[in-house]
Amino acid sequence: MPLVSMKDMLAHASERGYAVGAFNPVDYASLKAMIEAAEELESPVIAQTSAKTVRYYGYKTIISWARELGENASVPIALHLDHGKDMNMIKSCIDHGWTSVMIDASDKPFEENLALSRKVVEWAAEKGVGVEAELGEIGGVEEEIVVAEEDAHLADPDKAERFCRELDLAVFAPAIGTAHGYYKGEPNVAFDLIQEIFQRTGTPLALHGGTGLPDETIQRCIQRGCAKVNISTNLKHVFVEGFCDYHSENPQDYEPLRLLKAQYEAMKNLIREKISQFGSAGMAKSA
Ligand code: 13P
Repeated sequence: MPLVSMKDMLAHASERGYAVGAFNPVDYASLKAMIEAAEELESPVIAQTSAKTVRYYGYKTIISWARELGENASVPIALHLDHGKDMNMIKSCIDHGWTSVMIDASDKPFEENLALSRKVVEWAAEKGVGVEAELGEIGGVEEEIVVAEEDAHLADPDKAERFCRELDLAVFAPAIGTAHGYYKGEPNVAFDLIQEIFQRTGTPLALHGGTGLPDETIQRCIQRGCAKVNISTNLKHVFVEGFCDYHSENPQDYEPLRLLKAQYEAMKNLIREKISQFGSAGMAKSA
C-alpha cells in the first residue's frame, strides 16, 4: 500500500488507547528491519528520519527506499521527518514524498513557534501530509540538537491549548519531562500534565525520549494520551552492538553478510519488543 500520513494512523491509536512506535532508521537495513517487524506483528509503524540522516543520504535515496519497502508492505507505514528545524528541509521532505513532518521551533518564542508551525501546516495540507509540532523544550541530545538540562522546560497547558486550537496537527509534542538519550537518573515524567494537555487539546500526543523509559512509565503515558512513542538512541546502540557482538563471538568470521544479518536481527528483535509493548500489534488490520 502507498505510504500513509500519520494523521489517521494516530487518530486510530488515540481512540483505542495504544501507541504507534516511531523508530529512526539509519540505513536501508534498519528501515527494512522495522517494516518487517511491523508486518510480522501486523502493526502500523512510523519510520522517522533525523535531519542528519536526510543530509547524509539525500531526499531521493531515502524516499526510494521507503517507497520500495513501504509500498510492498502489508501494513501502514508513515515516513516522517523527526525534529525539522530547517524550513527548507521540511518543504523538501513534503515535496519529495515524506508523508509526515515535524516542525521543531520549540526554541523560539511562542508566537514565532506558532507562526512557523502554521506555515508548515499550510504546506502539508496541500499534499495530505501530517504535521507534528513541539511546545516547551525537551531536554537531552537528539542528533545535532542539544538542549541542556537548565534550558529544558515543560509545556504550558494554556499555551498548549491555544497552539493545538490554531494548528491542525496529526500529533502534538509537548515537553512533559522526558529527555532524548539514555536517562542519567530517574526520569521525572509529568503524568498529570500529559493528561491535562490531552484533555484540553484532544490531539494525540508524541512521547519523545522513549529510550530507557521503564515499561510502566510508557504505559502510563499511553493511558494519558500519548499515541506515538519515539525510539532512537536504543536502536542506534543495537545497530552497533549487533555487529560488534557477532564479531567478538566469531572473531574469525569475515563474511560481511553474516555480520550484517546479526545486526539486522538484533534491530528487528528490539522493534518487535517495542511494538508489542506499545500495544499496536494486530492493529494494522483495522487502522
Ligand atoms: P531517544 O533517542 O531517547 O529514544 O528519543 C528519540 C526521540 O524522541 C526522537 O525524536
